[in-house]
Amino acid sequence: MTELRIVQLADLHLGAGQEQHLDNWNKVCAWTAREKPDLAVINGDLVMSDPDADADHAVAREQIGRLGVTRRVLAGNHDVGDNVRFGKMPQRINGERIARFLRCYGEDRWSFAGAGWGFVGVNAQLFGSGGLAEEAEQWSFIERCFAEHAGKPIALFIHKPLFLNHPSEPDPEDLTLRQSCLDSASRTRLLGLCRTHGVRLISCGHKHQTRTFSFEGIYHFWGPSTACVNGAPSILHWGTREVGFIDYRFRPDGFDHRIVGSDFLFRHENYIHKLGE
Ligand SMILES: [Fe+2]
Ligand SMILES: [Fe+2]
Repeated sequence: MTELRIVQLADLHLGAGQEQHLDNWNKVCAWTAREKPDLAVINGDLVMSDPDADADHAVAREQIGRLGVTRRVLAGNHDVGDNVRFGKMPQRINGERIARFLRCYGEDRWSFAGAGWGFVGVNAQLFGSGGLAEEAEQWSFIERCFAEHAGKPIALFIHKPLFLNHPSEPDPEDLTLRQSCLDSASRTRLLGLCRTHGVRLISCGHKHQTRTFSFEGIYHFWGPSTACVNGAPSILHWGTREVGFIDYRFRPDGFDHRIVGSDFLFRHENYIHKLGE
């Protein structure tokens, strides 16, 4: 295969009895049925809010089954709980929540090759776990997969961004900023592996903002949410406040991308609902 078309769908935020994001999801399903990408990467935050809401996971699983294309799934903070050391939500990742995610979706990390590239997806919520066995297993998995893709450019998919402004930044005191990206120790270790093994592209979700930049030979993508934007317009944003998804085309000599859907999905404003709580 000389080209692999991968669509990244992130931050679906679907829930039982909560219809507010289904309008967009129906349009995403219609788009994939029409465009038939080779693969959909579901990059975390499948459920509306509560990682322990079994009914929401049942809805999310049913809805991603409607896509009609091959898919790979990753976890977000709303699916398995927030990071132990630098999260914000009251629910933090643990063995029980990981087990629920694996029961529902079958995987939380993966690796495959195609179109001259290596593709690796990881569970962002495991970083900074404070000693979970699953985190140690994932570090070994990353090192093994990166080595297996030796000689090929690698694209890494992960729910949270690695950093906000610069890899050297300290962990912010502000909890909202702190839970926005990886902690500095995990980031330093992961970026070291990325540099050693030829990672060319890192694609994430979580911030519900669209942002692209390159730094030290790596293309960083913050993909938009298919569901909604977060945060009032007045707060600091790093990227574009829009909804949509990323349509990648990987080839042995490079890749193309475009942001799709910001013109036909409805830009729900999530912060308005929270103001009333
Ligand atoms: Fe999200
Ligand atoms: Fe998230």
